[in-house]
Amino acid sequence: MRNLTEIANRNHADKGTEWFEKHSYTETYCNYIPSEGPCRLLEIGIWHGDSLRMWKEYNPEMKLWGMDINDCSSFFDTSLCEKAYVLDQTNRDHLNLIATETTPLDFVIDDGAHQMPHQHISLAILLKSVKSGGIYFIEDLHTCPLYANEARTDYLFQNWITTGSFASPFLTYEENEFISKNIKDVEFFNNGKLVKMVKV
Ligand SMILES: C[S@@+](CC[C@H](N)C(=O)[O-])C[C@H]1O[C@@H](n2cnc3c(N)ncnc32)[C@H](O)[C@@H]1O
Repeated sequence: MRNLTEIANRNHADKGTEWFEKHSYTETYCNYIPSEGPCRLLEIGIWHGDSLRMWKEYNPEMKLWGMDINDCSSFFDTSLCEKAYVLDQTNRDHLNLIATETTPLDFVIDDGAHQMPHQHISLAILLKSVKSGGIYFIEDLHTCPLYANEARTDYLFQNWITTGSFASPFLTYEENEFISKNIKDVEFFNNGKLVKMVKV
């Protein structure tokens, strides 16, 4: 069995325990994302491609998609993934295109801009492409306190846990309803910095 944290550290990915902010998300991801067998994963946020390299080494059978607002293709071997989209995670047309081309996904990881509108709009659209029982993760919720309480991603999920309602000010009524009814088993990890939800 491959060790995801060791692979992250070797690839300088900050999801591991050695580089940059040493988030240790790999200690959570390894419990949900398989190291062998086919699966389909989309990550928002490519930067230098460290995590894409990590995923492909962890599970060579994984089909991988990345997206970033910037063209990151000079930093990594783009043949690692099916496609590296240069698109904006706040643009619903861009996200709908990705959802159509990547469906059905087993996993989505939002490691993009770490801003609340970005996280909510991406979830509203990309959750459509996650298969039943698939998992959607959002990283770096320690940025939430920069926003008003009613917009904070962590508070919105805590509210969903108690009331069953997700109510983002950045989404339409229909988008909030879609999220509210299509997630289950919301859990926080890594001292509240990582949230995981399962698609109904
Ligand atoms: C933390 S880095 C990603 C790191 C990468 N996932 C890893 O672990 O190696 C965040 C990335 O999000 C991208 N980003 C920022 N705003 C974005 C947006 N609106 N849409 C898509 N990507 C965006 C940035 O260009 C940056 O490359």
